Amino acid sequence: MNPGVSARLPAARAVAAVVSRGANLDAALSEACAAADADAAPAIRSLAYGAVRGFFRHEALLAALRDRPARRLDPLVRALLSVAFYEIEDRRSPEYAIVDAAVEVARAAALGRSAGFVNAVLRRYLRERPAIDARIASDPAQRHATPAWLAARLRADWPDRWESILAALDAQAPMWLRVDARRTTASRYLASLHESGLGGRTEPRVPYAVEVDPPCDVLRLPGFADGLASVQDLGAQCVVFPLELRPGLRVLDACAAPGGKTALIAEREPGLARLVALDVDPKRLERVRENLRRGALAAEVVCGDASEPAGWWDGEPFDRILLDAPCSALGVIRRHPDVRLRKSPIDLRKLPLLQARLLRALWPLLAPGGRLIYASCTLTKAENHDVVADFMASIDDGESVDPAVWPGWPGLGVRGSCGVQILPGEAGADGFYYAALSKR
Ligand SMILES: C[S@@+](CC[C@H](N)C(=O)[O-])C[C@H]1O[C@@H](n2cnc3c(N)ncnc32)[C@H](O)[C@@H]1O
Repeated sequence: MNPGVSARLPAARAVAAVVSRGANLDAALSEACAAADADAAPAIRSLAYGAVRGFFRHEALLAALRDRPARRLDPLVRALLSVAFYEIEDRRSPEYAIVDAAVEVARAAALGRSAGFVNAVLRRYLRERPAIDARIASDPAQRHATPAWLAARLRADWPDRWESILAALDAQAPMWLRVDARRTTASRYLASLHESGLGGRTEPRVPYAVEVDPPCDVLRLPGFADGLASVQDLGAQCVVFPLELRPGLRVLDACAAPGGKTALIAEREPGLARLVALDVDPKRLERVRENLRRGALAAEVVCGDASEPAGWWDGEPFDRILLDAPCSALGVIRRHPDVRLRKSPIDLRKLPLLQARLLRALWPLLAPGGRLIYASCTLTKAENHDVVADFMASIDDGESVDPAVWPGWPGLGVRGSCGVQILPGEAGADGFYYAALSKR
């Protein structure tokens, strides 16, 4: 398939929005697709995702092909070159057609003399490709399209594993489903997938998890419309183990939107005394409501700031608090490759302060004997282990519950003095961190 200018230009525009103003890729794609031919949407998405996924490798290619830094180029030129480099890597169209199309896109976008520049860069790359590719391949950060600062950070935190982490984050994410525990089992659901002509597998260590392979549109999934199955990564589903849900518990999901874990909690333990889904973002809370509605699930949906409970808490303590903290999201880069472009070293410095503030504010809401689960989908020790360890050192009424005693814990992850870090790719999961803190 040759996507044509009608797909390549909107794809490049979406990529440029991520590069120049840190836009969310899905939001930029919605805009780009809305303005394009409806039947071009799949090609636009696939080109933009491919370009963003490989963006830092493509920038390294560009640096090898010219003397000046790529950041001085017009973002749309960088973006359309990234789309073209992705297409060359992807090998689905002939190389000459990719170069011609990129030049045509530059002309269509009225990028002035850039059309000649794009032509020269891409043709030089095709001439010198073996030597340039070998240079890129020898540097793990460039090979796996990771900005140098981020590779250095992961190397500092995970000196023995950073290269495999970069490789895992550079891979395509599998499609995991959570099936509704009230209505089916993983093996029954897998059978219905097969009946619908879809492939997949269960993961016996994480009950109710099913991988759909190859991934497909959610609308093809049996029972998706009424919540029989929901898309949720395997690592995210592991939250159920430290939570140890039981009938009668009062549960607060303190950073709940878009509601994936709220829905999982409601499905797993329909007999809770209370389930409160709190989030500070009213728009994202709409997604929580939607998810609950789709699965016919109940929770009290509350808009409020978890770091200021006086604004929303009624004074009744909770037996379980889930703090699925805002984080740098490095563990889900393979699903959201724009994270590599949108996060900066400054974010990584600031986030632990916010996470610590949330922990301090929520602890008083926990009943004696209750348990707070700190969770994140990131990989830095500063946002995970260190936040929790520092907090534990600051209180005298709590202790960390070792993952070894979480009932059913599937044995994933690297354990620290508190909590456990699932690394991306392990058992097919995204990178997640969990710690369970119990109150005396
Ligand atoms: C990692 S996401 C949560 C994902 C969610 N638990 C799920 O599984 O679908 C973090 C959420 O924290 C919310 N958030 C950030 N700061 C907050 C605060 N101060 N109070 C409450 N929610 C906050 C964000 O709006 C975002 O929805």
